[in-house]
Amino acid sequence: MEIDWDGLRAAAVAVMHRAYAPYSKFPVGAAGLVDDGRVVVGCNVENAAYGVVLCAECGMVSQLHATGGGRLVAMACVNGDGDPLLPCGRCRQLLWEQGGPRMLIDAEGGPVTMAELLPRGFGPAELAAVHGIE
Ligand code: THU
Repeated sequence: MEIDWDGLRAAAVAVMHRAYAPYSKFPVGAAGLVDDGRVVVGCNVENAAYGVVLCAECGMVSQLHATGGGRLVAMACVNGDGDPLLPCGRCRQLLWEQGGPRMLIDAEGGPVTMAELLPRGFGPAELAAVHGIE
């Protein structure tokens, strides 16, 4: 599947400007390409109770399911300068389940795979191995 990285980065920058980040002043935007061609986006949303923060990737994954589901093929995530941002540990876990090991993440120097960002990650297969749940 052809990946329009410039388009994904532009979508991430556009949604980054919608971030609610009054505490960290670190806005983040994420744009994901779905296997049916859709582009889903999210921005970080902070809270006066600091630990309640929602990362941009969380919003993006919510939009993925809210608009019909599917598998994530690629994602561009940017900081307030529009530079590529690699997902935090919690978001790597979240993305692992929605995109799998071959999902591509935009990075300085070229895209990296989720397998590189979360080697030997825990996922649904581990549950299925014990409980037979898919
Ligand atoms: N943040 C994200 O939105 N995604 C990441 O992968 C890293 C961190 C947000 C959370 C918080 O609002 C701000 O960046 C500073 O940590």
